[in-house]
Amino acid sequence: MVATPGAQGGEQGWSSRMAFILAAVGAAVGLGNIWRFPTLVGENGGGAFVLFYLGCVLLIGMPLMLSEFVVGRAGKSDAVQSASRVAERSGVSRRWRVFGGIEILAGFLILSFYSVVAGWVIYYVWLSGGDFLSNALAGEPFRGAFPDIGQDAVSGMMGALFESPVRLILVHAAFMAVTVWIVASGVHDGIEKAATWLMPAFFALLVCITIYGAFTGDFGRALAFLFTPDFSKLTPPVMNEALGQAFFSLSLGAGGLITYGAYVAKDVNLAPTAATISLTDTAVALVAGLMIFPIVLGVGLDPSAGPALIFQSLPVAFQTMPAGSLIGLLFFILIFFAALTSSISLLEGPTAWAIDRFGLRRPVAAMLLGLLAFLIGVACALGYNVWADVRPLGFWGIFAETDILDTLDGFTGKIMLPLAGLLLAIFVGWKADRRLIEAESGLSGGAFALWRFVVAWLCPAAVSLILLFGLFPGLL
Ligand code: PFF
Repeated sequence: MVATPGAQGGEQGWSSRMAFILAAVGAAVGLGNIWRFPTLVGENGGGAFVLFYLGCVLLIGMPLMLSEFVVGRAGKSDAVQSASRVAERSGVSRRWRVFGGIEILAGFLILSFYSVVAGWVIYYVWLSGGDFLSNALAGEPFRGAFPDIGQDAVSGMMGALFESPVRLILVHAAFMAVTVWIVASGVHDGIEKAATWLMPAFFALLVCITIYGAFTGDFGRALAFLFTPDFSKLTPPVMNEALGQAFFSLSLGAGGLITYGAYVAKDVNLAPTAATISLTDTAVALVAGLMIFPIVLGVGLDPSAGPALIFQSLPVAFQTMPAGSLIGLLFFILIFFAALTSSISLLEGPTAWAIDRFGLRRPVAAMLLGLLAFLIGVACALGYNVWADVRPLGFWGIFAETDILDTLDGFTGKIMLPLAGLLLAIFVGWKADRRLIEAESGLSGGAFALWRFVVAWLCPAAVSLILLFGLFPGLL
C-alpha cells in the first residue's frame, strides 16, 4: 500500500479487529471510569444516578458510538473530512462537517485538562512507588501504605501537590510527553502497540484489586451504596451530569472514535463491535465502583468525598489495609494505564486533522498540538494555586463557582460533547444517504430500521431536552 499523508498516516490502520477493539476500549476506559464515575455516583445519590446513566449508555451512547464509527469508516479520514465526504456522497451540504470540527476542538480541550489530572496520577505512582520500595527494603513489603506518617499527612499529600505549581506542571508535562511520543510513533507502531500491552495489564490489575477489596473491605455496603436508588436526587442538572458522563466515558463527540473508525478494515462488522466497546466501558465503570467503595467504606471513610475520593480517601484507606502499600502502587499504575490509552485517542483526533488539513508530518503535528494542549493545561494547573480565584465563566450561573479546570471539564462535557452528538445524530439519522449508512453499519432489516429510528428521533430529542433543562434549570 502506498503511504499517503492523510489521516491514515501512511499506514494501513489496525492490524486486526481485536487491535481495533483494544484501542477503542482503551480510548473509552479512562479517568472517566475510575476517577469521575465513582465520584459522581457518590455525590449524586447512588443507584438512581447509576440507573439513569445506564439508560443514557444504552439508548443514546451505544447508537451514537455506532454512528461515529460509520462516519469514520465511510469517510476514511479525520473527523472533519470524513463528515465532509459522507455529506458529499449523500448529496447534502458539506457544512455538516461542522460537527466534526466541534468534536476535534472538544477532544483537544479535554486533552489539555485530562493530562493535568493524569499528572496527579503520575505523582501518586511516584509517591506510592517510593513507599513500597522503602517498605520492601525494610523487609516488610506487605505493610500498609505510608507506615511512618500520620493520617493527616497522607490526606495532606493532595493539598501539598496542588499548592505547588511547579510539581503540577512537571507531572502534567511528563504525561503529555508520553502521550505525544506514542501518537507520533503512528497508528500501528504507537497507538495499537500501546493498547495491546496496556489494556490486558489494566484488566488484570482491575480484577485483582477488586477481589482484594471484596475480601478486605465492606463489599455489602458498597453494593447497597452503588445500587440503592434515591430518585429524589435525580434533578435535571444531575441528569445533564449523567448524560455528559456517558458521552465523556464512551468518548463520544470528541473526534477520537470517528478517527479510530477510519482505520478499521471493511470486513469488520461495526454494530456488534460498538456494542462490545460500550458495554465493556460501562462494566469497567461499575467494577471500578465495586473496587473503590468497599475499600473506602471498609475503613469508615466518606464515600461522597468528591474528586478527593481517589487521591485522599484511598491512600488513607491503604494505610490500614493488609499489603496496602503494594495495592496502592498497583492501583495508581492501573489508573495511569487507563488514562494513557485515553489521552492518545484525544490527541489522535486533532493530529489526524492537522495531518490532513495542513499536510504536516505526524510527529510534527502531534508535537505542536501536544504543546498547545500542554499550555492550556498549565492554566488549569495554576487554577489550583496562583489563579485560584479565576472563574472563567463566572457570569454563567451553572459555572459561577467553578475553577479553570472544572470549567473546561464542565463546558466540554455538558455542552460541547452533547452538542456534537446532537448534530451527529441529526446527520446520520436524517441527512446521510440511507444505503451508504446501512452498508457501513453492518445492520440490516429490522435491526437497521430500529437503530436509525433511535438515532433520528430518540437521540436528538433526549439530548436536546437534557441540554435545555440541564443548562437552564430555571425553565422547569
Ligand atoms: N473516555 C475517556 C475516559 O472515560 O476517561 C475520556 C475521553 C477519551 C473522552 C477520549 C473523549 C475522548 F475522545
